[in-house]
Amino acid sequence: MSYDTLTGRTAVVTGAASGMGEATARLLASYGVRVALLARRAERLTDLTDLAGKIEAAGGQALAVPTDLTDAACVDAAVRQVHTAYGAVDLVVNAAGVMLPNPVTAGRTDEWQCMLDTNVTGALRVIRAFTPDLIAAAAAGRTADLVNISSIGAHVPFPHYAVYGATKAALTYLSQSLRTELGPLDVRVTNIEPGLTDTELADHVDNAELSGQLDGMFDALIGLSADDIADLIAFTTSRARHVNLRQAIVLPTRQA
Ligand SMILES: NC(=O)c1ccc[n+]([C@@H]2O[C@H](COP(=O)([O-])OP(=O)(O)OC[C@H]3O[C@@H](n4cnc5c(N)ncnc54)[C@H](OP(=O)(O)O)[C@@H]3O)[C@@H](O)[C@H]2O)c1
Repeated sequence: MSYDTLTGRTAVVTGAASGMGEATARLLASYGVRVALLARRAERLTDLTDLAGKIEAAGGQALAVPTDLTDAACVDAAVRQVHTAYGAVDLVVNAAGVMLPNPVTAGRTDEWQCMLDTNVTGALRVIRAFTPDLIAAAAAGRTADLVNISSIGAHVPFPHYAVYGATKAALTYLSQSLRTELGPLDVRVTNIEPGLTDTELADHVDNAELSGQLDGMFDALIGLSADDIADLIAFTTSRARHVNLRQAIVLPTRQA
């Protein structure tokens, strides 16, 4: 079975301005998926990387929907925009996330709040908004997917990544739990747990020592690319609808 079963589907991809979200949006669009692109940086979605334009130039269809997932009203407006342009969706990828490590003793409540609001509440807002679409698509006999991008950090503790890891553990648990509600309705829930991947995620680290540590890990481990994760998402979502590759830990080969 190829990825061609994706053709004609309609997706929402959060975090589409860079990294895994962008790579996933591009790949899905190349298989004929209509893709709504959600992230804060409007210029990344339109002018800067011209993702929507590039996707359309490559024969796909894309809709740039600048959205801050930490803002409930903004998410509501984005959902309306997606529904007006595309109608109901049948594939949701929660890729948006932030990783702001620091020792818990530093007490960076600003970072904790940002990670909780984005990685947990933001994902929940998207799930709340589009789950009815997924249930309806499945009830109509079509394939319906919810894909959450969690992290190996949900399972393996790293010093000073306690709050980030906790948000990812929450997302992994949410995926497991949602399967009990949505699986019987034929909505497939897939939880992807990547290891070190070369994206912009580390650019926001506000701690020189931890930033240097990450650079060293990339040198030693040869990180995955965002395209590697996109490929996995395209693979899982293009399987027959009764097959759920439900949880995938994907690490660089050198990352033990
Ligand atoms: N890279 C890794 O090693 C790694 C490993 C395991 C898991 N992950 C997870 O993979 C996911 C994708 O991250 P990435 O590695 O591809 O990093 P990335 O390049 O930084 O992508 C994160 C995306 O999230 C968006 N975003 C952040 N805050 C947002 C908000 N409030 N509202 C809407 N969009 C927001 C960003 O766009 P804007 O800034 O324009 O909003 C960006 O497009 C994240 O959930 C991350 O936790 C990454």
